[in-house]
Amino acid sequence: MTGHGKRERRKRPDRRGAVADRRAAAAGQPDAERRQGERRSHERRSTGEKLDVILDITRQLMAVTDLDALLHHMAEATAGLLGADRATIYVIDRERNELWSRVALGAGEIRFPIGRGIAGTVALTGETINIPDAYADPRWNPEPDRLSGYHTKSLLTFPMKGNDGRVLGVFQVVNKKGGHFTRSDEETLASLGASAAVAVENAQLIAEQKRLWQSLIETLAITVDARDQQTAGHSQRVTRYAEVIGRSMGWTGKDLEKLQAAALLHDYGKIAVRDQFLQKPGKLDEAEFEYMKAHAEKTAEFLAHLVFPLDMREVPMIASQHHERMDGKGYPKGLNADRIHIGARIVAAADIFDALTAPRYYKPAYPVDKTMELMKEMTGPHLDPRVMDAVKRALPELERTVEQLKPTWPKPTEEGMGTIAEAALSERDAAPATKT
Ligand SMILES: [Fe+2]
Ligand SMILES: [Fe+2]
Repeated sequence: MTGHGKRERRKRPDRRGAVADRRAAAAGQPDAERRQGERRSHERRSTGEKLDVILDITRQLMAVTDLDALLHHMAEATAGLLGADRATIYVIDRERNELWSRVALGAGEIRFPIGRGIAGTVALTGETINIPDAYADPRWNPEPDRLSGYHTKSLLTFPMKGNDGRVLGVFQVVNKKGGHFTRSDEETLASLGASAAVAVENAQLIAEQKRLWQSLIETLAITVDARDQQTAGHSQRVTRYAEVIGRSMGWTGKDLEKLQAAALLHDYGKIAVRDQFLQKPGKLDEAEFEYMKAHAEKTAEFLAHLVFPLDMREVPMIASQHHERMDGKGYPKGLNADRIHIGARIVAAADIFDALTAPRYYKPAYPVDKTMELMKEMTGPHLDPRVMDAVKRALPELERTVEQLKPTWPKPTEEGMGTIAEAALSERDAAPATKT
């Protein structure tokens, strides 16, 4: 083994270096030198491995789609790297002023107030705590150990901070095998904790935006439904039925989200329909019906003001096509079947399903079998047969959903509500005039 070979190994600390060191030792180096060589090689090896793991995790962060899976992997990798028995990642729940264990290797979910115990203290102060013996520390809360039967000894707890320095969560490793956590362990945890903080902060921002978006479109739907007692809860119910039908057609993920948003907003244009037409108990004359029909166009017009995320751009179009018919005799555009978005055909079926199963001023709630009979008559010229096949397949689920949603129906005691005795199909239910 030459000196040149040694320098090479120093430049590239890896497992091959360790093997070469062992070979050198076997070749008869003095004991002290050999031990020193082994120690150095161990340090080089662990530094190289640590860097590998840190880089690997950071790379995964770039492609994070599932935060829980990522954090879980991160906790496992960290525990392995630091020789810890367990690792827990706590996230702060600001609404409840609590910490909860989003990932807890080897333990169930734990929740406790910020400020309590070691993790709670780290969440409060933002300072790392490294203690060799938890039970010798007055801040230690032995409750989780008592409940799980686990015995905590050494503990390294690190705050995960967001961009603005606010603590987002706490990264904790427990029970170092064969000793306590070192200064070098603290540094490793600091790098991994910083990566975890980026992931948590991004996920929280995305979740917040999603909640804002979802609550905004729900508010729009509630506002329009509140204009008229007879359609109370209609948008929410159509959304649930559309979701059941969509799933029965094999839809998932973004397609389903798009469908739900369109269903929620399909009647938004009714916000511009005058009360005298919207709330008229009896039959609408032709002029009134023309006016009423404008709501589908208005839906498109109003929603054009909302900047939808790129993958949701079709929502206003789907929403505004919910009164189009397969034979081209629908409104507002009289589109032919092939130009009607499949999502709009699903919303159309869900819309009619709710108009028939829920009570209205001019009709009582029809049972599901009568509803299906009426919808069967509309299949072909009005409703898409493919969508109706999905409705049939999903019938048990739809029936359960109707039962669940009954409390959202307009109250039968409201003035102008129909009774079961007047169950004859009114002209308003007959195609194309189903007022939904
Ligand atoms: Fe509707
Ligand atoms: Fe409508």
